[in-house]
Amino acid sequence: MPNQLLKRLAALKRQRNAVILGHNYQRPEVQDASDYTGDSLGLSRRAAETDADVILFCGVRFMAETAAVICPDKTVLIPDPNAGCPMANMATPRELEKAKAEHPDAAVVCYVNSSAEIKAMSDVCCTSANAVSVVKSIPEDREVLFIPDRSLGSWVAKQLGRELILWPGYCPTHHRILTKHVDAARRAHPNAEVVVHPECLDDVAAGADHVGSTSGMLRYCRESKADQFIIGTETGMLHPLRKENPDKEFFPAAELADCPDMKLTTIEKMVWSLEDLSYRVEVPPETAKLARSAIDRMLHTR
Ligand code: 13P
Ligand code: SF4
Repeated sequence: MPNQLLKRLAALKRQRNAVILGHNYQRPEVQDASDYTGDSLGLSRRAAETDADVILFCGVRFMAETAAVICPDKTVLIPDPNAGCPMANMATPRELEKAKAEHPDAAVVCYVNSSAEIKAMSDVCCTSANAVSVVKSIPEDREVLFIPDRSLGSWVAKQLGRELILWPGYCPTHHRILTKHVDAARRAHPNAEVVVHPECLDDVAAGADHVGSTSGMLRYCRESKADQFIIGTETGMLHPLRKENPDKEFFPAAELADCPDMKLTTIEKMVWSLEDLSYRVEVPPETAKLARSAIDRMLHTR
């Protein structure tokens, strides 16, 4: 990465009093240029704590929207306005309205991978790091409508031995990882532990040694006695794992598990973003207020 560009980024960051948040799936150089990296939950918490005026969110739109909802007085920027999440687009307000009418007593739990409008229509939000405890906090005798990720919902249902109403959404990136890929990787690296994200297909999650959020995976691999791991998630995750654990080896379960949206962020776009204060991510105040309640309920769940 040309040094000049990184120097320009650092100068703009000071000038704008900005903080750079980078998701664990971002390109390696973007993660290295971030002040904080982490999973969706960790980055939301960072956003809530910051005293910067500007949050440059290197991730996808729903994550930046969450920061905008939590920090209405800050300028939240996303370097590329096209960085969305196909799974988040799989639940529209109209569809959710219909499902709520069909299950009027159900508590709606929405995965953070959803638009602010969907969050505003939900009772509580969750991330892959806390989905089990969030669902657990809902009384057993109440129906739960879990949106939009069917795979995460199905994994949570298994953990709790509880039936959930699932939504037909999924992550196209994680669903590229198939059991046959994991089996082949296990044959190639018989001593490796298999660590996957709960957005993976049910049979992939069922066959793993550990299932967790991206930060949960980092923690698990750091603490495990194993020295080889097969990683079933977006391939950007290999960067923080390798950086944190130089003595351990990490192999992708499937080379093709790239999220094209996560990869839209580049250092150049980060510089332009801070230069032009674009692209601003804003949520209408009424939607933000309701979405905020769902996010706050999640943040207060133990
Ligand atoms: P995490 O919350 O585990 O970081 O995951 C976010 C995501 O988009 C996974 O595809
Ligand atoms: Fe969305 Fe999947 Fe990309 Fe995560 S990896 S942002 S769930 S498409």
